[in-house]
Amino acid sequence: MNLHCTWRDIMREASLRLAAAGIEGAARDVRLLLAHALGVEPVEMIMRETDAVDAAGLAAFEALIKRRESGEPVSRIRGWREFHGLRFAITPDVLDPRPETELLVDEGIKRLPEGGRIIDLGAGSGCILLSVLAERGDASGVGVDLSPQAVEVARANSDALGLVARAQIIVRSFGGEQGEWFDLALSNPPYITRTEVETLAPDVRNHDPAMALSPGDDALAAYRVILAAMPTWLKPGGWIGFEVGAGQAGDVRRLMSEAGLDGIEVFDDLAGIPRAVFGRRRGN
Ligand SMILES: C[S@@+](CC[C@H](N)C(=O)[O-])C[C@H]1O[C@@H](n2cnc3c(N)ncnc32)[C@H](O)[C@@H]1O
Repeated sequence: MNLHCTWRDIMREASLRLAAAGIEGAARDVRLLLAHALGVEPVEMIMRETDAVDAAGLAAFEALIKRRESGEPVSRIRGWREFHGLRFAITPDVLDPRPETELLVDEGIKRLPEGGRIIDLGAGSGCILLSVLAERGDASGVGVDLSPQAVEVARANSDALGLVARAQIIVRSFGGEQGEWFDLALSNPPYITRTEVETLAPDVRNHDPAMALSPGDDALAAYRVILAAMPTWLKPGGWIGFEVGAGQAGDVRRLMSEAGLDGIEVFDDLAGIPRAVFGRRRGN
């Protein structure tokens, strides 16, 4: 890349490089990474495109493009991801929040009673719990994760979003007792078998933590352990909502029915894939 041109020329060259490396949406990624390198918002890039290139900006941008060329996702390079309209910091210790998980948040909010208590089982970055609490100022809740590093990330996000007073985030298993009664439980648990992980795209396989992706050889193991303990912490009449992998909705619906839940409903994501399953504990 050379200094005697505008950012628009540099962006064109970088897009060709990323496209040649097999990266879809190369032009969009280039815009986001250049904005990151220059410390401006992506929308501001329109004004900056015809500026002359400066050496420091170019060096910073080149370093980011090299990382993207090698397959690192933009969110990992920037260190944050927008989810449900909020910015979540991410580190290598947490799953990069996926847009389809917003469905769980939206359906969960509809089922949370006024002043209700929510638990997020396998909180990761905290994106599910914190998005619900950001929208529902009357509610409070708990996020649990077995990874102490993930809990640190979720706490930092809670702090950055001003939710510390209503969000408790703790290192604890999602199987077993949770110490109190909740009105709503949401969980995007690990649901990919160990062998399937090997077949995932490199940007997932090489960058999301193994513990966030896979529960081992049984893809449904996490759903089973969560549902086994559920009667000890979900209020009668309370709701539980799970994210599921493609093709798992039927099995998870069956497990929920066997666990005594009723009102079970499956929701499709924007790609038309059954992605979230909700059920209600009987009683009032
Ligand atoms: C698929 S990630 C979901 C993270 C976040 N909720 C999201 O949707 O982006 C699953 C999370 O469950 C956590 N986890 C895995 N096994 C667990 C267990 N037995 N108890 C608690 N958390 C667990 C992982 O550390 C990971 O953060």
